[in-house]
Amino acid sequence: MRKITLIPGDGIGPEVIFATKKIVDFLNIDIDWEIINAGENTYKKTGEYIPKTLIDSINKNKIVLKGPITTPVGKGFRSINVSLRKKFDTYANIRPLKSLHGVGKMYKNVDLVVFRENTEGLYIGIENKINEDKTQAIKVTTRKASERIAKKAFDYAIDNKRKKVTAVHKANILKITDGLFLECVREISKKYPSIEYEEKIIDNMCMQLVMNPEKYDILVTTNLYGDILSDLSSGLVGGLGLTPGANIGDDIGIFEAVHGSAPDIAGRFVANPAACILSAAMMLDYIGEKFSADLIRNALYKVIEDGNNLTRDLGGNSNTWEFTQSIINNLCI
Ligand code: NAI
Repeated sequence: MRKITLIPGDGIGPEVIFATKKIVDFLNIDIDWEIINAGENTYKKTGEYIPKTLIDSINKNKIVLKGPITTPVGKGFRSINVSLRKKFDTYANIRPLKSLHGVGKMYKNVDLVVFRENTEGLYIGIENKINEDKTQAIKVTTRKASERIAKKAFDYAIDNKRKKVTAVHKANILKITDGLFLECVREISKKYPSIEYEEKIIDNMCMQLVMNPEKYDILVTTNLYGDILSDLSSGLVGGLGLTPGANIGDDIGIFEAVHGSAPDIAGRFVANPAACILSAAMMLDYIGEKFSADLIRNALYKVIEDGNNLTRDLGGNSNTWEFTQSIINNLCI
């Protein structure tokens, strides 16, 4: 029996996480969930944002399914999400974005995977207040982190029969930091002659994605640009409710939706659990349960294609549980 750490999270987190657990449990996969929470709610109850029991559980189990965790804007504690990624060195944030029949307003052929460097850049959390009117943030780029995210993107391209990797940067302005990132990706690209390689400046990339998203395949980029590009690309394929993600290190995988805790809709059971369900499917792929992962993806795609029992963000009127039950009804086992 494989133990997996389950973090319900804040806001809509428990709603989408337990909907997802219901689907995975329905398939009778040999999983023993270790449910331990972190974040704002946990702090209110225990005085700790990340309990030691959670750290121990992740170190032991190595696989995590995680709900979103709230981070206050402009004040308060450092992001728990960033802390977990840093602590467990899950350096590759992988976010597949694919058009699904029946959703998304304009784009029908988007099939992108964003590889976001997950441990450094502007997310290292070093900010200084020089005086009341002057502040600064430090951006760190290392050869090690840039090379390993590039390698992950190219390896994925080979393993998944993808054709092109685009490195996204701002090395025309950030000549030293993004310059090093670009130099590393360029070097790694030479080891993969069968994969087409190109480079795009981040501002142009945003425009290209809105104009011609179908021309892009795998994007590899730094932490902040990856964060922004994956939300932008979510918008191309029907919104944040549909975009899954994985934080992968050498031996630890933390799987979570791209979206946050959505406080504006939390507690109303209108959240779309699809992004979390698709993240769980990525997790099942990772642990060698590809058959079950495909069953879940196919059932979800079928529900979306049929257009019945959709959540509000997808144009329907159903709640989280009705949508989840429809997926279970479509699991052909
Ligand atoms: P958000 O992703 O929570 O919400 C953005 C918009 O998308 C909202 O209108 C929300 O209602 C909608 N939305 C998001 N997920 C949805 C779903 N599953 N179904 C239907 N609609 C959905 O982003 P926001 O508002 O910027 O952040 C809220 C909090 O979440 C912040 O504290 C932020 O730091 C945190 N956050 C946490 C993440 C994580 O734990 N990995 C990732 C992103 C944000």
